[in-house]
Amino acid sequence: MSYGLLKGKKGIIFGALNEQSIAWKVAERCHEEGAEFILSNAPIALRMGELNGLAEKTGSEIIGADATSTEDLEKLFDAAVAKFGKIDFILHSIGMSVNVRKGKHYTEMNYDWLEKGWDISAVSFHKVMRTAWEKDCMNEWGSILALSYIAAQRTFPDYNDMSDNKAYLESIARTFGYYWGERKVRVNTVSQSPTVTTAGSGVKGFGGFLGYAEDMSPLGNASALECADYCVTMFSDLTKKVTMQNLFHDGGFSNTGVSQKVINKYDVE
Ligand code: NAI
Repeated sequence: MSYGLLKGKKGIIFGALNEQSIAWKVAERCHEEGAEFILSNAPIALRMGELNGLAEKTGSEIIGADATSTEDLEKLFDAAVAKFGKIDFILHSIGMSVNVRKGKHYTEMNYDWLEKGWDISAVSFHKVMRTAWEKDCMNEWGSILALSYIAAQRTFPDYNDMSDNKAYLESIARTFGYYWGERKVRVNTVSQSPTVTTAGSGVKGFGGFLGYAEDMSPLGNASALECADYCVTMFSDLTKKVTMQNLFHDGGFSNTGVSQKVINKYDVE
């Protein structure tokens, strides 16, 4: 169902890899709501070619950029300004940990891999915002969002250094969000339920995370499509004064101590 919430709005969406990607669903929903945008991903991800289908469906241009490269980001934002003039929204839906990918235990962390994952998953959010800031290319009442996970606040075994990356990411949203206030632009992170995607499924024991979160959330886990709906509201004019927040979109998981479903699993006299 479309409400025309993003009619006339222009943006950049980072991180759609395949149909499961949260960014993919966000792009589909933004298109349905009347937005125009550029799709961006790392050049290596573009080689798979899956993004072409989404670009066609949403009438979008694809521009590759490694989000850790300020040079790539400059080119991308120059192209966005040439195409749209100032823009209204940015989605940062990017994450990768080499330690997670290679199964390196947190207690035996490889620090070179840590730095790479930190740069991709957290610092890139600063780089994206700094590029937009220096080009002064956000319209007033624009909205910038990144995707986070509750492992930033609480420990989840095997989420590994991504926990630390998410804590850093959320801090960047608060700190840079303060300065963006001067330009009437809001910055937030959406802390999403575990979701079956390429990045999500890479975490060891992901099926357990998913089932436990489902049982612990009064409304059940939020799907990628539901996350996309929420992102649409955050890009719309209905949320103008929400900024510097980490917004839980998790069916109530974050505020539940224990659920009856979980109690029943242990209460077996
Ligand atoms: P995904 O694997 O579909 O998306 C991750 C994206 O990051 C991919 O498109 C990948 O190409 C991109 N990427 C990696 N390195 C990059 C680089 N150097 N430059 C530009 N892009 C790069 O997985 P998903 O789940 O859609 O992830 C999107 C965001 O949502 C991530 O920040 C993730 O941590 C977050 N998130 C995911 C949850 C889940 O359970 N799947 C839960 C909460 C948050």
